[in-house]
Amino acid sequence: MKDLKTIILAAGKGTRMRSGLPKVLHPICGQAMIQYVLDLSRRVGSLKTYAVLGHKYQEVKAYLGKNAEIVLQKKLLGTADAVKYTERYLKNHKGHVLILCGDTPLLREETVKRLLRKHRASNAACTLLTAVVHEPFGYGRIIKGEHGEVLAVREEKDASDFERNIAEINVGVYCFKAPELFKALKLVKANPKKKEFYLTDIIEIFREQNLEVVAVEAEDAREGLGVNSREDLAFAESVHRGRILKRLMDAGVTIVAPQTTYIDSDVKIGQDTVIKPFTVIEQNVRIGKNCSIGPFARIRPGTRIADAVEIGNFTEVSRSRLDKRTVMKHFSFLGDARVGSSVNIGAGTVTANYDGQNKNVTQISSNAFIGSDSILVAPVRIGKGATTAAGAVVVKNTRVPDGGLVMGIPARIIKRKK
Ligand code: UD1
Ligand code: MG
Repeated sequence: MKDLKTIILAAGKGTRMRSGLPKVLHPICGQAMIQYVLDLSRRVGSLKTYAVLGHKYQEVKAYLGKNAEIVLQKKLLGTADAVKYTERYLKNHKGHVLILCGDTPLLREETVKRLLRKHRASNAACTLLTAVVHEPFGYGRIIKGEHGEVLAVREEKDASDFERNIAEINVGVYCFKAPELFKALKLVKANPKKKEFYLTDIIEIFREQNLEVVAVEAEDAREGLGVNSREDLAFAESVHRGRILKRLMDAGVTIVAPQTTYIDSDVKIGQDTVIKPFTVIEQNVRIGKNCSIGPFARIRPGTRIADAVEIGNFTEVSRSRLDKRTVMKHFSFLGDARVGSSVNIGAGTVTANYDGQNKNVTQISSNAFIGSDSILVAPVRIGKGATTAAGAVVVKNTRVPDGGLVMGIPARIIKRKK
């Protein structure tokens, strides 16, 4: 949509999270909750995103950086009040405004696109997303007329017993014609019970003005989840994990045991790689084709693994690069390592990358053979085709020449290539 701008509401306190961290910054599969909504805004073709912040806004602002225009809501007087703060940026915007909440990380691109298509096609002043759920408690209920037309959204506190039984809820995602939205906002009065200004009151205001309101139902009711508690957070994590694993499997990756495999949101894995049970792969990791990872492997951020690499059980790899056909089959740790191709990392190998102050690099060149239980105290360089004997402690600043052999504690170079 060429004339679409987005508002993300994220000023709320998130009290029920019981957290020092702003709610929308809690990670889900390695990525802050608000990032999912931010990406969605961009992917549905929004020209610009405004994030309404309040509680602990500085932390959220620092996270968002230049990815959103920050609008500060001075007092948390409700969702209508929050949107009002964007008026000075959007008052001349003749197009449409998409409103999302920062705490709905399960919302999918297809669903928002469907909402936007319906909004356009129907020429409605407001199109809102609904979901039919088992537990409507706490959500605004959708009140419909005889012909299925949306009459109002009734908040929990204001709902009658009859209305409380309605299972169709307001997800909190709307597309508005911008000029109509800001005109109607002026008419919203504070809710007598909560003393808050409800954005949802606009639906009735539109109806009184004979402006059309259209509802689009989400196919997957989980999409409507607003994360309010740690339990919701864990649920959102499990749904996202399932989506990530499905995406990878659809792309030709074997996930032997999806129930025990934890892969973060932006991980890329090549075709025919096999991920074995109890494996954790964190944010910002790339793995090539035909690799075998796990069981019981932890691949940490910043790691790049080329094709046909084998990483076996009880292994950790952090901020490291492993080139083609390198093998590390048993309990080992690589941190800040640059490993060439066809290297053998013996069982029990440890890179001592941290000296208490700095993280240092271990360089292991192609075809090297690292004997079992070797300790490589970084910075250190193992030459091409060189060997470290079992149990060697290769001390800091050692440069093992190409084809060399080192042995002992501290390791001495006992053979050089002729
Ligand atoms: C809101 C809707 C409800 C819907 C539910 C979906 C209203 C009045 N009700 O209720 O119909 O079913 O979301 O989850 O809109 N926020 C601000 N400033 C404020 C208040 C809230 O930015 O002053 C933000 C929050 O950070 C949050 C979003 O708006 O991202 C929704 O606010 P919240 O307080 O969670 O509203 P609900 O009571 O859940
Ligand atoms: Mg909420």
